[in-house]
Amino acid sequence: MKITGKTKVVGIFGDPVTHSLSPAMHNAAFEALGLDYVYVPFHVKLDNNADLKKAVEGIRAMNIRGVNVTIPHKEKVIKLLDDMHDSAKDIGAVNTIVNDNGRLIGYNTDGDGYISGLKEDLKAHGIKDFSLRNKKAVIIGAGGSARAILVCLIFEVESVIIANRDVKRARKLINALAEKKAMHEMRRTLWEIISENADAVSLKDISSHLQDADILINTTPVGMMGIGSLDIDLGKLPDRAVVSDIVYTPLETDLLSRARLRGLKTVSGLGMLVHQGAAAFKLWTGVKPDVKIMRDAALEALGEKKGQ
Ligand SMILES: NC(=O)c1ccc[n+]([C@@H]2O[C@H](COP(=O)([O-])OP(=O)(O)OC[C@H]3O[C@@H](n4cnc5c(N)ncnc54)[C@H](OP(=O)(O)O)[C@@H]3O)[C@@H](O)[C@H]2O)c1
Repeated sequence: MKITGKTKVVGIFGDPVTHSLSPAMHNAAFEALGLDYVYVPFHVKLDNNADLKKAVEGIRAMNIRGVNVTIPHKEKVIKLLDDMHDSAKDIGAVNTIVNDNGRLIGYNTDGDGYISGLKEDLKAHGIKDFSLRNKKAVIIGAGGSARAILVCLIFEVESVIIANRDVKRARKLINALAEKKAMHEMRRTLWEIISENADAVSLKDISSHLQDADILINTTPVGMMGIGSLDIDLGKLPDRAVVSDIVYTPLETDLLSRARLRGLKTVSGLGMLVHQGAAAFKLWTGVKPDVKIMRDAALEALGEKKGQ
């Protein structure tokens, strides 16, 4: 990669940020397309948000084309931006900022990235055109990523159960979205759809919701290296069920390993990471990246590339 005076800069704001796979993914895709861009990590500390404010001002001051935003800034950054795309308004969090001649616009590509990653991975499992229509989903967790996935999933599936350790937080998530009344192109409001089709349960009561689930999605950090494993009886799921985890370190969590041994189709968190990144890449450059190149670069950075 040759950096010149004309090179455009993009990057990621996070705390911590050293573990991020995004620099490897994006720089590989820029190089493959011969685009004069560079993607750099910016460690923006949580502090009292003073650093975040200065960092956002720096996007304008230094003519940075855009950034990804990750933990813990996704929600706090909203009030520092000039405008929000519907994707970020609905989710209530920003994971991508585009600098449009000094106007900073917030987007959220996490939910759509999840769905694209899921469909791509299921294609690799031999399911060509996986559709979420008429499917029943169970989401474990009620944090930021559950919210992003719920907002995008709800327009396609028949129903969603949110199972969370703290059931009040799951109810709060549904109610907060239900109050948004954001318009969708199908002319039904997000409010109507969430109110009708989403429900909250306690994680300890998840079993009774598994027998007719088509897809089970873990959005908690449980299963990450050193964060234990989920105590869920996968024997209750029907044989057709897909089990998906948004954790990608390890690529095969304990949940996915148990699901695979039960003969179920499994999807790791890597597809979501790659596709939310690919969507941000397109917003900054106007060009669609090669997702295979991004995936391979992420795998290589994880030390898991096996020459495929
Ligand atoms: N693949 C990707 O591209 C991608 C994208 C975004 C995030 N992620 C990963 O997704 C995970 C969650 O991120 P987030 O931003 O949604 O986090 P978050 O907002 O902090 O939410 C965490 C959720 O996990 C639950 N949880 C935490 N520890 C638990 C435990 N021991 N047992 C049961 N539930 C537990 C919390 O339940 P309570 O409400 O009861 O505390 C909460 O619902 C992280 O590991 C992150 O790295 C992956």
